Amino acid sequence: MIAKLYRWVDDRLPVSHFWNAHLAQYYVPKNFNLWYFFGSLALLVFAVQILSGIWLTMNYKPSATEAFASVEYIMRDVEWGWLIRYMHSTGASMFFVVVYLHMLRGMMYGSYKNPRELVWIFGMLIYLVLMAEAFMGYLLPWGQMSYWGAQVIISLFGSIPFIGEELALWIRGDYVVSDVTLNRFFALHVIALPLVLIFLVGGHIMALHEVGSNNPEGVDIKKHKDAEGRPLDGVPFHPYYTVKDLFGVGVFLFVFALILFYLPEMGGYFLEKPNFEPANPMKTPEHIAPVWYFTPFYAILRAVPDKFLGVVAMGGAIFVLFLLPWLDRNPVRSIRYRSTAFKALLAMFVVSFVVLGWLGTQPATGLLTLLAQFFTLLYFGYFAALWYVSGREKTKPVPERITR
Ligand code: HEM
Repeated sequence: MIAKLYRWVDDRLPVSHFWNAHLAQYYVPKNFNLWYFFGSLALLVFAVQILSGIWLTMNYKPSATEAFASVEYIMRDVEWGWLIRYMHSTGASMFFVVVYLHMLRGMMYGSYKNPRELVWIFGMLIYLVLMAEAFMGYLLPWGQMSYWGAQVIISLFGSIPFIGEELALWIRGDYVVSDVTLNRFFALHVIALPLVLIFLVGGHIMALHEVGSNNPEGVDIKKHKDAEGRPLDGVPFHPYYTVKDLFGVGVFLFVFALILFYLPEMGGYFLEKPNFEPANPMKTPEHIAPVWYFTPFYAILRAVPDKFLGVVAMGGAIFVLFLLPWLDRNPVRSIRYRSTAFKALLAMFVVSFVVLGWLGTQPATGLLTLLAQFFTLLYFGYFAALWYVSGREKTKPVPERITR
């Protein structure tokens, strides 16, 4: 019966075609390592966010008078509400952990290079929309940091010459962050941006499957094929990587559960302490800082004394990542075969990103601002130096076939 039903459906919908083209007969390099877990983990966290988000929406009230209390109601009275809420708030941070590691893998193995430039561009668009999604989501509990964080970030648009004030007014829909802002952020957070994300993730994976995955050696597996046209250094995605990815999922869920049950707020890094107080437009928190995944860019913003130039630097810090496929002029992909200078530069970039992230959580005092300026220079220095070094670099010979 089941086989017959399957055949009936398959004759009318490309089920087996899809299964074969993207899983059972889709060949991937046989040497994927730990770093290749993060793509499937990003998909997993995305699913967790959508599901927990749907259940949160069942009891959440997008109104300035009710939002805070509705979140408390979810936490205290709704059955398993605390778990659903923490899955979503911790899930947001885990999404960025996974995506940052996924991006770092791309930078180490040169996955952004020809022919995967579009995979990278789709990834960067996902990253941008994900930041907007997280920013709008953070306003919804209507706590002190929700309110003042949104106030600070939206007011940044006000510093753009000529159109700034009008633009900030348009985003808020009011002269200050208000019920109107909350309502529109809710609409964008629960439906508009998730739809855009689904579309972009689809494009990301379609673009990847068109050219095939890179790998830790940076070798092109399509160059050497057997008589049937199967890559000699490849294995079918299913069952080899479905099983391997399931192992990654197991480890990830273990870590996720540990955080969820024992450290859901991560000492104020995942959910900031002032956000357990209801939004009060009459009382500014002593120290306003965004959640950790935004703080590297926040530190760059504050490092520049002029507000508008700070906004330009912050935007530039994100925009320059789009250009990586063209800034890195060396055709050798994997870090394994690149020069010591490249390795040192990438290490410098990672250190500057982490230090800026920490600086962004701290009050901007004299010495710390000086440090932020220094690490901002290093951050941008990476891209300039990469362009210079990659044009002259002495690389090691890349093997023809995958040997490790
Ligand atoms: C919702 C977020 C994302 C999801 C669900 C996602 C999903 C995936 C998946 C399933 C893969 C294939 C498996 C793997 O190579 O790990 C992949 C590959 C890739 N992703 Fe993403 N991704 C996301 C965000 C990003 C971002 C933000 C970037 C970079 C800006 C990016 C860049 C890449 C690149 C360059 C590859 C190819 C890697 C290679 O072949 O070596 N992705 N992505």
